[in-house]
Amino acid sequence: MSLPSQVKIVEVGPRDGLQNEKQIVPTPVKIELIERLAEAGLRSVEATSFVSPHWVPQMADNSAVLQGIRRHAGTAYSALTPNLQGFDMAVQAGADEVAIFAAASESFSRKNINCSIAESLKRFEPVVSAASALEIPVRGYVSCVVGCPYEGAVAPHQAADVARTLFAMGCYEVSLGDTIGVGTPASIVRLIEACARDIPLGRLAGHYHDTYGMAIANIYASLQTGMATFDASVAGLGGCPYACGASGNVASEDVAYLLAGLGIESGIDLAKLTAIGDWISNALNRPNGAKAGRALRAQSPE
Ligand code: HMG
Ligand code: MG
Repeated sequence: MSLPSQVKIVEVGPRDGLQNEKQIVPTPVKIELIERLAEAGLRSVEATSFVSPHWVPQMADNSAVLQGIRRHAGTAYSALTPNLQGFDMAVQAGADEVAIFAAASESFSRKNINCSIAESLKRFEPVVSAASALEIPVRGYVSCVVGCPYEGAVAPHQAADVARTLFAMGCYEVSLGDTIGVGTPASIVRLIEACARDIPLGRLAGHYHDTYGMAIANIYASLQTGMATFDASVAGLGGCPYACGASGNVASEDVAYLLAGLGIESGIDLAKLTAIGDWISNALNRPNGAKAGRALRAQSPE
């Protein structure tokens, strides 16, 4: 199959990237990050999550962040919402889109959202209904699509079952989360094939953490199946607080570099994006996890 001519990047750095930071990141830094990402051409930015502040204190300023950003026309700002309480707060704060998140493994579901997979899917139904009444698009995530930090390998059909339920419930897109980054092109393609039996490829997205350095290879393999939406995090920030040892998402800069090299349109200004990766890494006092970002900055520091 030929590669897609256009790819959508969902920038998850402000949420997935920051949620695992131990030090509370000041709200103005989060706001500046989101604003700059939109200015660099990201048309879909996951800005924050409306989860319990007891569970993830870093996201406690969710409303202030969403309400504080200067909106860029043409960019959709989304937020994770685990239940109706979070959904109501997200709507009040002006989220353009929300995301519900389930898991393919029971243990991860319990650790992450304190309920079974079946209970979580039941809990999402009223969220999807409320969103549909307000015409707010809902994205669905499935975590641990290849492997689980507590249960080990996850079979493709386990992930595909949950993905199918989320899609049937009304999610316009289902993002397949390799939460601990154990996937390789072979297991990722098997997974996509299993999901694509019930969900059109254009409604599936890849969300690959880069723990084992496989994320770019997995994206290339996914592109070859026809998948054309990928989640990424500037400077490769992040990880999940309930997946010990999981590193950040694939770096947005690395994905943008890959796409540019393949002649695939993404709308991203790579120079602006690398500057943002540099800035946020300095602000967080951590090394920049984007290989392409570091290389490009080394060539032209300013
Ligand atoms: P629970 O403790 O079972 O919830 O948590 P509860 O309904 O019993 O409520 C307990 C308390 O939390 C109450 O407060 C509620 O008001 C409050 P209290 O009376 O004790 O003061 N509460 C809330 N507060 C604010 N916003 C809310 C909310 N809901 C309840 N929405 C719950 C269940 C789902 C809330 C909790 O487990 C939770 O917040 N989990 C989120 C964990 C999380 O954010 N994980 C990271 C995101 S997922 C991820 O990173 C994976 C992904 O990137 C894909 C991948 O990589 O695979 C998406
Ligand atoms: Mg993630």
